[in-house]
Amino acid sequence: MCGIVGYVGEQQARDVVIEGLRRLEYRGYDSAGIALIGTADGVLSTDKRAGKLTNLEKAIEEHPLPPATTGIGHTRWATHGAPNDVNAHPHLGAHGRVAVVHNGIIENFARLRDELERAGHELLSETDTEITAHLLETEVESGHDLTTAMQRTCRRLEGAFTLVAIDAEDPSRVVAARRNSPLVVGIGEGENFIGSDVAAFIEHTREALELGQDQVVTITREGVAVTDFDGNEAEGRRYHVDWDLAAAEKGGFDWFMRKEIFEQPRAIADALLGRHDEDGQLQLDEVRISDGELRDIDKIIIVGCGTANYAGLVAKYAIEHWTRIPCEVELAHEFRYRDPILTRNTLVVAISQSGETADTLMAIRHAVTQRAKVLAICNTNGSTIPRESDAVIYTHAGPEIGVASTKGFLTQLIACYLLGLYLAQVRGNKYGDEIAALVRELAQMPDKVQAVLDQAETIYGLAERFQDARSVLFLGRHAGFPVALEGALKLKELAYIHAEGFAAGELKHGPIALIEEGLPVFCVVPPRGRDQLHDKMISAIQEVRARGALTIVLAEEDDPEVAPYADVLIGLPTVPTLLQPVVATVPLQLFACELATRMGHDVDQPRNLAKSVTVE
Ligand code: AGP
Repeated sequence: MCGIVGYVGEQQARDVVIEGLRRLEYRGYDSAGIALIGTADGVLSTDKRAGKLTNLEKAIEEHPLPPATTGIGHTRWATHGAPNDVNAHPHLGAHGRVAVVHNGIIENFARLRDELERAGHELLSETDTEITAHLLETEVESGHDLTTAMQRTCRRLEGAFTLVAIDAEDPSRVVAARRNSPLVVGIGEGENFIGSDVAAFIEHTREALELGQDQVVTITREGVAVTDFDGNEAEGRRYHVDWDLAAAEKGGFDWFMRKEIFEQPRAIADALLGRHDEDGQLQLDEVRISDGELRDIDKIIIVGCGTANYAGLVAKYAIEHWTRIPCEVELAHEFRYRDPILTRNTLVVAISQSGETADTLMAIRHAVTQRAKVLAICNTNGSTIPRESDAVIYTHAGPEIGVASTKGFLTQLIACYLLGLYLAQVRGNKYGDEIAALVRELAQMPDKVQAVLDQAETIYGLAERFQDARSVLFLGRHAGFPVALEGALKLKELAYIHAEGFAAGELKHGPIALIEEGLPVFCVVPPRGRDQLHDKMISAIQEVRARGALTIVLAEEDDPEVAPYADVLIGLPTVPTLLQPVVATVPLQLFACELATRMGHDVDQPRNLAKSVTVE
């Protein structure tokens, strides 16, 4: 998820673009860059710097860019290639005539890169974006205008992308295209804008045009023209923006956390993008541990903190079931003090959204000294933990601004499932058709999560009903147990009330003494495919209900057995048992977010908490 701005009009493009990038910095802050076409000489000037936007602003203060009224800019959330100056956008074609900025993931960029290099192109960065600049420039140099060049180039791209480009030999226009990635046009008087979202231009105009799938837009001072990728005229959706700037940065939501909860379908799709072929064969290029070494792995230890630790607990069930490799899960801050048994055939998996959690970093440093292999599952490209690991699976969730992790957690689950299936594929624990069937199930997760999000209003009603609760319990079994822990953590860190997650089988060994009249108890019921688990979970629900608990039951939407024991029933889409945490967690996120909002808490920055705990 990156921030993109394009401008053509009468104002100084540098000012409009930099201001727009500042409004979009929440979308990515690994690096920032700008490209302008000089009004006087038509020369394309660019500057781009790793780090926050202020680094770029300082650079162009020291080395001013020439006056220009056409320009594009970008703030990056790195997916392919470390966050450094070379990988920063904009990227240029071979002859510096075309500049491009990009948001998304181009799945077939390796094949296109190979084709360009065989044709003599020299590519300077590790990014998937740079190839589009070379492809576009080749098209304009063969006589096409930039609009036609964009149409022809987009027809060759696979994946999710928003592209915005300028051509030094045609300063009258900025051209953009989108597929599965946001792009919106701001319509002004004698000037027009392009942005990843309306925050890019809302201070200049509130008249917006949202592009549809597979569309190309050309903006000039005089107007806006939309086509499809084949050049046929097309329509965007015209609308008036009535958000204020703060709301615009949150996409109209009240909190970044709520926005990020609703971004989860997209985030899961991005986490899966380019990681399996149409036959369900997995390809995790970034796992730079050889197949031979992966076959020799005889133990896995997953380390992480908080929500990341709970993702590891879910992963344990899946990885052990699919690979038959013993899998331990350890709190990162406990790991090295227990003097763990590590060998070169141990795979330590470090799960961390930020990639900077000190406890987790210290854990992998210990693992490295013991010669174990280390693989990071991380959302922040170029952060310390993946940098110090042997391999990494990035979760591609985009920046997670809310301190309470939501899309970070669900994409960690997806990455763990991909790792488990990849290990099974490399080690031959599962046949190709079995893996393909599970990959197809994963590919349905965005829609299944969306189905739960469509119930948000019902779940918000729960927050109203229980807003005076002073204690809430969460029960689950098997892969539902970590979901119970995560639901409790969300409530603790957002609503500041006592909440505890239990393995349902543990109730009779003590916790059932907590049950009293009216106590809300969330119960995560496994899918009916695992009868024993399902029936035992229902018994646990009966036990707490018999003692006066108010049961909020999360179960498959067509499960006929749970209704008699549910004071409130939340229907979940049917998914395989091991994948149920992906859908079962969402109602608990929504509940915690809404309850904290009703309590008047700062949901994005809860008291005492930080987004990344960089101290031990
Ligand atoms: C999650 O809602 C919390 N903010 C916290 O538990 C977090 O998951 C934990 O601090 C680990 O952070 P990391 O994933 O960035 O390493």
